[in-house]
Amino acid sequence: MQGKRVLLIIAGGIAAYKSLDLIRRLRAEGAAVRCILTSGGAQFVTPLAVSALSEDKVYGELFSLTDEAELGHIQLSRDADLLVVAPATADLLAKMVAGLADDLASTALLATDKRVLVAPAMNVRMWEHVATQQNMATLAARGIAVVGPERGDMACGEFGEGRMAEPVDIVAAVATLLGAGRALAGRHALVTSGPTHEPIDPVRYIANRSSGRQGHAVATALAALGARTTLVTGPTALVDPVGVETVKVETAADMLAACEAALPADVAVCAAAVADWRVDKQAAQKLKKTAGAPLALALTENPDILRRLSEATNRRPQLVVGFAAETENLAANGKAKLDSKGCDWIVANDVSAARGTFGGSHNQVHLITAEGMESWPEMAKEEVARKLAQRIADELGAGEQTGSAA
Ligand code: C5P
Repeated sequence: MQGKRVLLIIAGGIAAYKSLDLIRRLRAEGAAVRCILTSGGAQFVTPLAVSALSEDKVYGELFSLTDEAELGHIQLSRDADLLVVAPATADLLAKMVAGLADDLASTALLATDKRVLVAPAMNVRMWEHVATQQNMATLAARGIAVVGPERGDMACGEFGEGRMAEPVDIVAAVATLLGAGRALAGRHALVTSGPTHEPIDPVRYIANRSSGRQGHAVATALAALGARTTLVTGPTALVDPVGVETVKVETAADMLAACEAALPADVAVCAAAVADWRVDKQAAQKLKKTAGAPLALALTENPDILRRLSEATNRRPQLVVGFAAETENLAANGKAKLDSKGCDWIVANDVSAARGTFGGSHNQVHLITAEGMESWPEMAKEEVARKLAQRIADELGAGEQTGSAA
């Protein structure tokens, strides 16, 4: 997003403290960030902090003689490539729906012809209120992009959906909306992510500890390079990536069906931790325990989605990438997996407990191809995803050149 201009509107919610980090991260990506701080927002973060981080004047009042003389409110939104509202409060979202313009933030939002991204943040009851939900539906129908909110503990002591998306997810959404890269424009990417849940009976299932974070980050990074991206994901607590078609599934069988339905694709990245087995015969009723008696579950092997995609005869993606979660002998085991699955690349990562990869924020991976192994330094999962997406773009681009030269 080098050279792009973001107008960030910070409204009045406790999540405003995260907006300071958001400014820093957007600027680290090369974007210029100009901020409007509402009077509510200024209750949570100071204009001085916002100004220091954005290295720009902070705008607040609609009828400010000096601000209007220097840069009118219409000009503020004209000058931006994208408007981001983070945190977007229930009140400001309602104003956007109604077309109110009684302060600088709502006026800039009404006056803009640029794309708008909102990151809602509010108490769970306010979020679930039919008024807010209807407002969100109206904004979505108008083409407003939405990132989050997330589920989790809230500053008000409650638990539920309403927490603002993390700055890293907002930055990813901004990158996608700004079309920061077009290297994969016209390409279709298919990504699997998360665990699968294999039911035992109507209330129990077999699952694993995958958070889906790496797979979701890969989908986000591919979309940011301009690929039409389909993310087929098992159950996770993550927000749906902006600009990505997200298909939610539970079981391995559903995941395979959704992947096959999404073909053809130029590239497939299988980052899901698919359960290797499913319960043979799912009980129709909740299983009862019998004191002292052990329970035996007969398990059947699940389809291997990575192998199926690698083997697909007429619709094989040009590039198929798998992940290998290993606890030892990464290079040898990764190479063996490359051969046994028939895929083109394996991203091998160390998931030994000491590394905390599962559910953690960082990952140290080794890219294994037919040519050999390349070890990448430990980095945030989002960074791994971006580096991988760039490598994929290089590979597909190189294939294109070879094809056109032939
Ligand atoms: O065999 P293993 O589970 O170690 O292989 C890991 C790789 O295979 C990952 O890319 C994972 O997404 C994929 N996989 C799959 N379907 C399965 C099992 C694994 O797509 N049933």
